Amino acid sequence: MIVVLGSVNIDICLEVESLPRAGETIHARDRGYSGGGKGANQVLAAKRGGAEVAFFGAVGSDRHAEEALCDIVEAGIPISDIAVVQEETGSANIYVDRHGENCIVVVAGANGLVGADAVAAAVKRASDGFLVLQQEIPFATTHHALKRARASGTRTILNVSPFDKTSAELSRLADIVIANQHEWSQLSGGAETCAAMQEWSRRHRQTIVVTKGAGGVAVASPSEYFEVAAPTIQPIDTVGAVDTFCGYLAAELDRGGSLREATEIAVTAASIACLKAGAQASISVKHEVLNAREQHHAS
Ligand code: RIB
Repeated sequence: MIVVLGSVNIDICLEVESLPRAGETIHARDRGYSGGGKGANQVLAAKRGGAEVAFFGAVGSDRHAEEALCDIVEAGIPISDIAVVQEETGSANIYVDRHGENCIVVVAGANGLVGADAVAAAVKRASDGFLVLQQEIPFATTHHALKRARASGTRTILNVSPFDKTSAELSRLADIVIANQHEWSQLSGGAETCAAMQEWSRRHRQTIVVTKGAGGVAVASPSEYFEVAAPTIQPIDTVGAVDTFCGYLAAELDRGGSLREATEIAVTAASIACLKAGAQASISVKHEVLNAREQHHAS
């Protein structure tokens, strides 16, 4: 079972020619609303990746809540552990340019009220699988969840995003840490070599996974180091690609796949996600990912 304790957002996606610079007013070609939030995206990816899942988070009682949870509900993920609180549903303003690059501004809203009361149940449910966390809910909640999981022997995956000054402290408590290149550089103080990853992994007795976009993924565990290349693609929209990677990696590990096999499948899922617009609409189901992986190997 994959249990995600994390955020739900309504994503307001603006298609622009170029990302706006300071002081600039620009026109968007189009605007779309869809479900998002790193927590919700990752649980959806784990579900589409074939895992049994549970999700703990919070939304407001405003008009955006239903839309934000639409894909979650459609996928059959129970929403009974999502609290309805006196705050607006979290939101993300997302700018996507003609190259598929993006920048995102998040308003925490209800996510800021995901409290420690959800932790005990989430950790218990994850006892035979993985508890998956990100950094869009309060630090205290994530910290408490990681500590409780460690004390009870529940395995954890932490995606240190959005990265902030608490990421280093949180990351030491997780079994698997997923960071992009920029986040890993901040975490490690700029040490980007494979030797530095291995040294970190042995010292903290945890697995470090660094996603590098088109450059693939590097993985260091206390016993191995390997890299997985990403298929060559022309990205349309990279929003949610790392979330797809995290959810798929968790699902594959939960299924009993090796770290290498899980990484390969997750890289393929994340690559396909860059070929479609939207964080959640771009997460493929498992048989599509496996077909794409076969094609990649055959070519
Ligand atoms: O990782 C992508 C996600 O980041 C978006 O769905 C947005 O809601 C922000 O949380």
